[in-house]
Amino acid sequence: MLASTRDIIGIAEEEGIAVGSFNVYNLEGVVAVIRSSEQEKLPVILQIAPVSLESVGSALVALTLAMAEDSTVPTSVHLDHCPQQDQIDRVVSMGLRSVMADGSHLSYEENIDFTFNVVNKMRSFGGFVEGELGRLTGTEDGLTIPEYESLLTDPDQAADYCDKTDIDALAVCVGNIHGKYIQEPKLDFDRLSTIRDSVSVPLVLHGASGLPEWMISRAIDLGVRKFNVNTEVRTAFLESVSSGVGDKTLDLARLMEISIDSMSQVVTSKIRQFSGR
Ligand code: 13P
Repeated sequence: MLASTRDIIGIAEEEGIAVGSFNVYNLEGVVAVIRSSEQEKLPVILQIAPVSLESVGSALVALTLAMAEDSTVPTSVHLDHCPQQDQIDRVVSMGLRSVMADGSHLSYEENIDFTFNVVNKMRSFGGFVEGELGRLTGTEDGLTIPEYESLLTDPDQAADYCDKTDIDALAVCVGNIHGKYIQEPKLDFDRLSTIRDSVSVPLVLHGASGLPEWMISRAIDLGVRKFNVNTEVRTAFLESVSSGVGDKTLDLARLMEISIDSMSQVVTSKIRQFSGR
């Protein structure tokens, strides 16, 4: 059933667990995430990157919303990392009610203005807005933010930002990165703990691919209720599809089923970790 991100995160909050939010780029990705969440009977979030709006456009939004509606578990559809109001307006006109207003490239004051405006618009129909404070490094969808631009979330600023924007959830930068961790991940749990004590909204951790299980559990204990996962699922898709490249007689439906299976294995393992199973 199509659910609101607010309700899904509310379930996670009540149960002291976190929910997985998985980037999807195609039908197979959507099927894989829903299959795992139904098997595990756990709510889930499907998230779409703005880059997909430019490539496949509204069809992916419509498909994802329709499949979320048919799911047997609470499932929401979210627009990930969106720096532009017109793209937010576009997905909202298609029925999507959950967005990440990404003003992390802006100055602090500009980020507040941008996020506040998004919240104001989304509030008129009960929409959900995730904001970000700090600057996450790494690579996603062809965009690389170099390490020298990284900025950890300042706990005092986080309190002020949440107050002034009225966001529903805060994405934090505490050493997490997008893409593959080149060295052992180092999360600043003291900072995470101080942020948790300074704000009242649920916390979101991007870059959950490659984090060891103990870090996931510790982050959940410190208030993370939504983990964003892309790289590990994307890698599973690419590896399974590339294993079939070169075989000109290949049955495409079979290859897609294989790719769904391998993505679903990753998703299942993640949502089990996020729910403490
Ligand atoms: P990873 O690609 O590192 O899993 O990060 C995904 C993400 O944070 C999407 O917003």
